[in-house]
Amino acid sequence: MSVKAERDRPSAIVRIAKPYNSEKIERQVISILRSGKFVQGEIARDFEAELARYIGCKNVVTVNSGTAALHVAITALKLAKGNRSDVITTPLSFAATANSVFHSGCKPVFVDVDEETFNIDPSLVKEKINGNTLAVEPVDVYGLPADLEPLRNIAGSKGVAVVEDAAEAIGASYHGKKVGSISTLSCFSTYATKNLHTGEGGFVTTDDDLLAEKIRLIRNQGQASKYNQMVMGYNFRMLEICAAIGIDQIPHLDEMNAKRRANVLYMKEKLGSLDCLSFQRVDDANGDAWYMFTLMLDEKRAGISRDGLVSKLRERGIEADVSWPTPIHLQPYYRETFGYKKGDFPVAERICEKVFQLPIQPYLTESELERVSNTTKDILHK
Ligand SMILES: Cc1ncc(COP(=O)(O)O)c(C=O)c1O
Repeated sequence: MSVKAERDRPSAIVRIAKPYNSEKIERQVISILRSGKFVQGEIARDFEAELARYIGCKNVVTVNSGTAALHVAITALKLAKGNRSDVITTPLSFAATANSVFHSGCKPVFVDVDEETFNIDPSLVKEKINGNTLAVEPVDVYGLPADLEPLRNIAGSKGVAVVEDAAEAIGASYHGKKVGSISTLSCFSTYATKNLHTGEGGFVTTDDDLLAEKIRLIRNQGQASKYNQMVMGYNFRMLEICAAIGIDQIPHLDEMNAKRRANVLYMKEKLGSLDCLSFQRVDDANGDAWYMFTLMLDEKRAGISRDGLVSKLRERGIEADVSWPTPIHLQPYYRETFGYKKGDFPVAERICEKVFQLPIQPYLTESELERVSNTTKDILHK
């Protein structure tokens, strides 16, 4: 069966993610296997150059996960400014956002998020920033950019870097500029479900050549050349197979993101009249790259719990999800180790209690989209 036929094959389950594939990728993977050249070679270099052109930034450094991208970015900054160690970030994210801060020998300082956009609240960042702040780490939650300009101004006025967790936002733009070309360092994930994927993988973007150089060293055991180690490093190198999967998607990314946007608009039109649902607010000045279409359920009005709705959707073949059910500070490890408790970041906590996601990936057919909206309405009307 061809790749296209496989992709378009009707499925009993409406999937929330469908990783890209093509005949070209399959041919290239075989040729890499036969070449025996597996790690951080020519294809990864081409992938970096194509990403830099697409994003409009000077340097792209590929690594083997989005977590590694954050780890290596913060570690490079720490090397440059060793006396500072706080990273101001948001608890409304995937654990990797804060875990990577610890991996780099730093400390996350959480501040709450905006109730409507779900992104870090710049006024709270302003209150927390001080002489020990190494970086501000906003997250472009679900593919919608954080409010980067005030964050850059607040950070810049204190000589602090912005390390953007853009793991979910490849292809998004903020006020006309592509995400990845704005912050001091931007870190992307190319995990299998992402809008552009490499199976596992990630990359860092920066216009700062010195930081890019440090990141390249750290990615490869700190070595400037073979067996010539300059700094402490790791093995964060990207596989050629991963780069080959990623590079083939760049020319299609804008179209796939436009499809995601159209699917979100369809869902909003079909579900917008239900008073028990509300949506993450979109800033019209930005180009969104919907990774997850996120809704909030008012359980009282709906007469059903969020988790009840999601399990009913799943029983009826709609792969709905809850991302994230728990903010980072309330994860058992964070509670037990650092003493965080419920009420510390009430906005993030409220959002996590209400959010769920519906499929909007670019390969959904019209009838699948209709099935998602009709099933959701059907459950909520009962
Ligand atoms: C906001 C955010 N940050 C970081 C990561 C980590 O990326 P990876 O899974 O590629 O390590 C993810 C991954 O899903 C994410 O959603």
